[in-house]
Order: sequence, then structure tokens, then C-alpha cells
Amino acid sequence: MSAPIGVEVEGLDIAANPTESDYQFLRDALHEHSVLILRDQDITPQQQCDFAAHFGDLRTSFYNRYGVQDVPALSIVSNIRRDDGEHIGIADAGMLWHTDGSYLASPDMYTVLYGIQIPVRDNTVLGDTVFSSSWAAYSALPSELKQRLDGMRAVHSFSAHIEKKQAKGQLKRAPLSAQQRDALPDVEHPVVRRHPVNGRKCLFVTEGHTSRIVGMDDAEGTELLKFLTEHVKKPDFHYRHHWRKGDLIIWDNCAVQHLAVFDYGDIPRRLHRAGIAGSVPV
Ligand SMILES: [Fe+2]
Repeated sequence: MSAPIGVEVEGLDIAANPTESDYQFLRDALHEHSVLILRDQDITPQQQCDFAAHFGDLRTSFYNRYGVQDVPALSIVSNIRRDDGEHIGIADAGMLWHTDGSYLASPDMYTVLYGIQIPVRDNTVLGDTVFSSSWAAYSALPSELKQRLDGMRAVHSFSAHIEKKQAKGQLKRAPLSAQQRDALPDVEHPVVRRHPVNGRKCLFVTEGHTSRIVGMDDAEGTELLKFLTEHVKKPDFHYRHHWRKGDLIIWDNCAVQHLAVFDYGDIPRRLHRAGIAGSVPV
């Protein structure tokens, strides 16, 4: 791949029970390249979970209404509607740059996404996922700014995220209930976090979920946040994935941010997602 992230792994059939040394190879490659792509996989929901469990503990989404039947650790990402008009899965995930679960005290470490139904129009694949390297983005900052960010913390807020989406007219699910809001209080994380495995410094503020910088007045904090979240979105740090049915992708949520491209309207799209628990960012 031309970007500083993303690598395609060939010759591995997940349905044929890879060995522990295969998984060690995958974990090492993931920590080096941040996004792994395995093409042409034909797996069941249970096989996806078994694959994901080799990278850590699976975390069931609090949106359990979108769980795959009998496999609650997997959630459905889809714009397909049931007969009653309700979506069968999350229909508006990832419209703003983000990293999964950053609004939790211990965000998701990895995400495993499997392409089942991929929208195509006039031979063009739609619904790409764009990844941006948070360590390449950090590394490209001027050293004076790096010093300024040292020890700085920021607030990540799921409630603010939903409000942001609603304001942009992007929300395709019910607003949070009071109970969900209480279950997801705002959290603070370092603006720059160290990767728990390889020690790389990663920029950890996102357009989608970071609401403010701690201890900074509104104007100054908003300006800095805007600068950093725009910086991490630059194409220099990108790998853009064009999906094919059977693609199994795993990415490292500390090392990359991502964005879902919504260009497919009502053309059916379905993916299954597994989240893997991570540690408290430091
Ligand atoms: Fe996401």
C-alpha cells in the first residue's frame, strides 16, 4: 500500500483454522502496519468471533439491538431495512472521523469488520472506509507543538457526538435515552497517547468524539482542537479501502482514525463488526 498504513495479507484462509504462529504473525503485522486486510474470506459469524478473540476480549456493543442473532458479540452495520422500516443494523456509523470507543474509559483496542454485502453503482464500489495514521500525523507535527501537547488532556463525549450528528442531519437512530446517557459519561484522555505495544506516540483527539481540551478556555481550546483534528485528516496519512465481499479487516484504534464514506444511499450494504477491549490510554 502507498500510505504509511495498511497491508494486505495473502494466503491465509480464516475458515481453515490458522495456527497460533499465523496469529502471532498477524498481531505483529497489525502493530507494524495498523490496518490488515484479508481478502476472499468465507466465514460464519462464529468464525469471525473466534478470529477476533485471538486479538483480545470481545466487547459487546451497548447497541445490542443491532447484534447478530445468536452471536451478540457481533453487531450489524447496515442500511438495509426490515419490513417495519427499522434498519437491521447501525446505519449511520462513522460519518465523522473517529476511533472506536474513545468515549469509553478504556476504548476499543482493535475492530474487526467483515464485508458481506458491498454496494456497487456503475461498476464503482461504494461505501469505502478511509483510515488515517494517528502516529504518522503526530510525528509530522512541529516539535514546539509536540512539547505543548505533552501532558495535555481532552474530553471525549458520546452525548456530544450524537448532538453533533443530529445538528448535521446525519443521525439515523434514536437519540440517546437518559439511561444510555448516564451509562456513557464523558471521559478524559491524553491528547497524545503511547501505543501500548509498540510505544509509538499517537494523536488521540477526533472530530467525532472529542468535545474540548481540559483546562483551556473555549476559544483557544476550540482552535487547537480544530487544528489537530484537521491535521489528522490529511490525505498524506491515509489508506482508503475499497471493499469487496469477503474482505476481513482488522485495525488498531490507537494507531488509526477512520471515516465511513456515505455515497451509496439505499443500495444495500451489510458488514459485521467485532470490537476488542483495550486498556486505559496513557
Ligand atoms: Fe468506527
